[in-house]
Amino acid sequence: MEQNDWRSSVLNSSFMKIMADNLNKSASETDPKTTPLYQAVISHLDGDRTAIDIGAGVGRLAIPLALAGVKITAVEPSNEMRKHLVASIEKEKLSSSINVIPSLWPVQQDLHAEVSFASFVIQFSRDPVEFVRAMERSTSRRCILSVHIDQPLGFLKDVWRVFRPSEAVPAMLTFSDLYPMLLKEGIIADVTIIREDRPSRTMADPDKMINLLADLLAIKDNPGEMQRLKKMLIEKRDHGLQQHVMRTAIISWEPQR
Ligand SMILES: C[S@@+](CC[C@H](N)C(=O)[O-])C[C@H]1O[C@@H](n2cnc3c(N)ncnc32)[C@H](O)[C@@H]1O
Repeated sequence: MEQNDWRSSVLNSSFMKIMADNLNKSASETDPKTTPLYQAVISHLDGDRTAIDIGAGVGRLAIPLALAGVKITAVEPSNEMRKHLVASIEKEKLSSSINVIPSLWPVQQDLHAEVSFASFVIQFSRDPVEFVRAMERSTSRRCILSVHIDQPLGFLKDVWRVFRPSEAVPAMLTFSDLYPMLLKEGIIADVTIIREDRPSRTMADPDKMINLLADLLAIKDNPGEMQRLKKMLIEKRDHGLQQHVMRTAIISWEPQR
């Protein structure tokens, strides 16, 4: 399978609904202000207090940052995500502090801010090098990326072996792909590693995951295969709900301009 195929399936609306639910859950379980990413953004702001939140999602970081007096440009291509983001902006009366740009990064406009950050977004980009270069062009003080260290699509390994035995398992860009890429661009970034031990949210509800996987595997019209997939997912749910370790790298550097 082409590496690009999972991107269009993952970015379709049914998966965005699952992802938006997970992000809302995460924001309600952990106070975003206590996260290392939020603190990194705050610590690098200067007099202007401006930041670009690339792939802002439901606003997990944009909303608390704006409440703390930061002027945010929130770039978010998904209608599903923006629905939640815009509702929170209205609820918190933040329309003068958050400018929403409904677009993929890099954007057409010339944007400038002290800090730009992208939390779990660059793995969806078709051109990560240009993604990073555009961050550098828009930022005066600090560029910050949060990325997975452990493969988020790792759960696909067993499913792939059964349904697509001769094809490579889809994989997302992770820290080990990204850091060498940054080095090649001449960027020597600081890295903080964060470790979370908690059940996987992705596998918690097989009924929600089945459509995404059926799209990826192109088996939607085959009831026998759909049944087989469902059985596998139910078995995997029990395993996925056990505690497991998820590590994140916060990568941060001063733009070279
Ligand atoms: C896993 S969510 C993370 C959301 C948010 N940054 C957070 O940490 O809560 C990924 C987000 O990136 C957005 N996205 C995907 N590709 C993008 C791109 N090229 N430019 C900007 N956003 C993108 C998706 O629409 C989605 O909202």
